[in-house]
Amino acid sequence: MEAHRYSGQPDGLAGIVHSGINLFVWMRPTPALDPGFLAALARCGDLEFSTGLAVRDGTHEAWRFPDLKRLPRQASQENRCAMEADVNLLARLIARTLRPEIIRVTLVSVSSDMCRKFHSDHVPVRALCSYHGAGTLWLDNHDVIRGELGCPGHGSFEEANAAVMKPGAKVRQLSRGWVAWMKGEAWPGNEGNGLVHRSPPHDPAAGPRLILKLDALYPGGFFPRQ
Ligand SMILES: [Fe+2]
Repeated sequence: MEAHRYSGQPDGLAGIVHSGINLFVWMRPTPALDPGFLAALARCGDLEFSTGLAVRDGTHEAWRFPDLKRLPRQASQENRCAMEADVNLLARLIARTLRPEIIRVTLVSVSSDMCRKFHSDHVPVRALCSYHGAGTLWLDNHDVIRGELGCPGHGSFEEANAAVMKPGAKVRQLSRGWVAWMKGEAWPGNEGNGLVHRSPPHDPAAGPRLILKLDALYPGGFFPRQ
């Protein structure tokens, strides 16, 4: 059985709690955010803004646009509100569907080859959206040699990544704007089945990427029924 699901609607997200499933992708239209604003934010130095939103009874605390010292001139009230609406839309889906205790929202610009080795994350569920730049690369479970993940002894990143892939493996890529809910190793029963993924190679010509991450966290251990 395939461990991933793709859909044009977000409704199927609830299915990610099922055993064996490690990825749900919402192939949504590109969000209506000003591309110039997103590109300017991506170039905004080493932007990394992370905040935790409390969730109570399936309702989350609203996310607010970061209070950055130097905002690009494109960060108009309209553009900031539009981004807040998009982040809160995704947080609402997570709060209602996955019922975490906290949603950690991280907005980050990436201008390096950070996370270029295939790996799985040690979080319960992480939603990922590339607002600007290339999308994340990932592998189908059938294409992964898990015993090679994180092994020292591989010389280069390229060798380490090649060692993880079975012969004929196909590297898949998410599109900009899509939302991928990736189940990680910290979800109960998902040890050894976390989605294997990596960042795309940094492309200096394309400039920094702008990535949004939302982690569903359960510090008290009260996970939804599976
Ligand atoms: Fe990751």
